[in-house]
Amino acid sequence: MLWDELAQDWGRYAAPICPDSADLAHFRAGISGADDHVLLLGVTPLLAGLGRKLTSVDTCRSMIDLVWPGDNETRRAVQGNWLFDLAHAAGFTAAITDGGLSVLRWPDQYVMLFASLRAAGAPQCRLIARCHFSANVQPTPDLAVLRAELRSGLRPDPDLVRFRVAHALVAASGEPNIAVRETVRVAAELLHDQPEARASLLARPHAHCDESYSFPNPVQLIELIEDCGFWVDHAGLRSHDPFVHCTVQ
Ligand SMILES: C[S@@+](CC[C@H](N)C(=O)[O-])C[C@H]1O[C@@H](n2cnc3c(N)ncnc32)[C@H](O)[C@@H]1O
Repeated sequence: MLWDELAQDWGRYAAPICPDSADLAHFRAGISGADDHVLLLGVTPLLAGLGRKLTSVDTCRSMIDLVWPGDNETRRAVQGNWLFDLAHAAGFTAAITDGGLSVLRWPDQYVMLFASLRAAGAPQCRLIARCHFSANVQPTPDLAVLRAELRSGLRPDPDLVRFRVAHALVAASGEPNIAVRETVRVAAELLHDQPEARASLLARPHAHCDESYSFPNPVQLIELIEDCGFWVDHAGLRSHDPFVHCTVQ
């Protein structure tokens, strides 16, 4: 499984794939007034200290064992599937996730997640999610721009090339779901003049996994969330704003 493999060297990832201190501040402000029991979808270490009490739920044992900073009096991580197994966090007052929506298949698994959150959360619980909206991703998600940058000597981290390729493909097609392997294939083509970076990309777990990511645009996401019985308080319609906040109606 992809996450089992990624857990082995999670420390290599940085923003924008992982959150930074500005994102942490945004999450903290977003749960203000609803932080009695925070449900963290995933094990994102930077977010582990939020809330008076926090329960992290993640399906991947290796991510819990290797990435989660450890349980203490106020926080714990449990293995479970967000889509139908949130009983351990029943009554949570706010849910947070960094990129957790993007690992779900659009739209059916989003619908399952919102139903699951609604069933397990306290009345009027809220969700704050950092998303990756292709139109807002910087630098501009465009294959021609990326190709030109690489030709002019840019030597980026291969994971960042793959990330930018994924957004360029979604922005160009309008189809939110993107196979991870396809992002690797296109990124490898772009890196053909940089054999070392290309080899490193092809050696990553993404090159041989069957998973897909999804990047719906804000309008698609708002519509789905509202159809699921949540009120959208905030959505990143401006550039550089990757956050969505919503509350159970
Ligand atoms: C939260 S997401 C994105 C990573 C994020 N940007 C970060 O900083 O941690 C990744 C996590 O989601 C978990 N995951 C994916 N689908 C899941 C599901 N249906 N139920 C529970 N955990 C899931 C994976 O095991 C992985 O640990």
